[in-house]
Amino acid sequence: MYLILTASPNTDGLTAACAEAAHTGLSEASVEAHRIHLCKLKLEHCRQCGNGWGQCLREHTCVIQDDIVPVQEALAEAEGIVLVTPVYYGEPSEAFKAVFDRVRRCETGTGEEGRVVGKPIISVAAAGGSGGGITTCLLSMEMLTRHLRAQVADLIGVTQHNRAYTLGHIQAAARNLVTRVPTA
Ligand SMILES: Cc1cc2nc3c(=O)[nH]c(=O)nc-3n(C[C@H](O)[C@H](O)[C@H](O)COP(=O)(O)O)c2cc1C
Repeated sequence: MYLILTASPNTDGLTAACAEAAHTGLSEASVEAHRIHLCKLKLEHCRQCGNGWGQCLREHTCVIQDDIVPVQEALAEAEGIVLVTPVYYGEPSEAFKAVFDRVRRCETGTGEEGRVVGKPIISVAAAGGSGGGITTCLLSMEMLTRHLRAQVADLIGVTQHNRAYTLGHIQAAARNLVTRVPTA
């Protein structure tokens, strides 16, 4: 199973178009794609238990058993992952951060048992405004991928100006998550 996570409240915008392109690429590679809209989840933010570390470090689960649980289960099951967030203030969106602030903590200290260790992740930053802040958003996503000890499969910035040809890039990158050969 391959996973596409989106983090925009807009289900018909740039983020959705990027997710659709990724879905098409995965379909071309004949694999099942599971999509999760992070904005539709019921989530609390991290409580920074104890002196900063809590159950997340000891047991690799969050003390708050809300919709983070199915996300963690899907991440554990996935063979490859596509993350798509709108760029807000040069960062991933609030929904993205609410999920991955907690997911990242739970992966800390898991060694080779981590839910996403070694798995390829494509990060897509959709900057539909000026296009500014794409690099800082992708930097956050790259850091997240490294903290998860996953593999950076691609880092893709999409703007209003490059949208037409970059959607094709996303499609090819998603296909390549499965086929794992350099695209010509
Ligand atoms: C709070 C907020 C902050 C934003 N900050 C940026 C930004 O830093 N750079 C940019 O290019 N666009 C920015 N935008 C525009 C979004 O990236 C743009 O609306 C994007 O297309 C959102 O994805 P969507 O089409 O899926 O809604 C911002 C939008 C919002 C609502």
